[in-house]
Amino acid sequence: MEIDLKKVDYVLMKNRRDRRALIPILQDIQEEYNWLPEEVFGIISREIGIPVMDIYGVATFYRTFSLKPRGKHIVTACVGTACHVRGGQRIVETLSSELRIEPGETTEDMKFSLDTVNCLGCCAIGPIVVIDGEYYGGMTSQKTLALLKRIEMGEK
Ligand code: FES
Repeated sequence: MEIDLKKVDYVLMKNRRDRRALIPILQDIQEEYNWLPEEVFGIISREIGIPVMDIYGVATFYRTFSLKPRGKHIVTACVGTACHVRGGQRIVETLSSELRIEPGETTEDMKFSLDTVNCLGCCAIGPIVVIDGEYYGGMTSQKTLALLKRIEMGEK
C-alpha cells in the first residue's frame, strides 16, 4: 500500500512539532489515513525527538489507535450483556457473514471495518451499532444491513 507521507508533514506542522503533542499527532495521522502506518513512526520520532519504541508504546496502549489498515467506515456492534440479550451477537454474525470478515478485520475493498465492544454505556436503547462515530439504537440485523447499503450508496 502506497502511503502519501506529505500528510504526516502537514500534521506535524499543525501540531508545531511539539513532543508534548504526541497523542494529538497520532490522532491526526489516524484521521488522515484511518490507521497508523508503520512508516510514520520513524518520521515522527525524527521530527519531535521521541524514540520510535516510545511512540509505538503509546500507539499500542490506546485501543483507539490501529496499526492495521482500516476501512473507510468503522462499524462497531455492542455485545455487552444488555445488547447481547436483545440480539447484539446476531447483528455481529450477520455483519460478519455479509461483509465476509470477522470482528477486528477490514473488507478487501477497504470499505468497512468491523469491531465489537462490551457496553457503550447506553444499554437502555440497545442493541447499539456505532457507524463512523454515530450511535444507532434499537438495531436489528436487517436495519444494520440497510444502513450499510445506504452508506455504500452515499445516501446516509
Ligand atoms: S451493553 Fe450495549 S450499551 Fe451497554
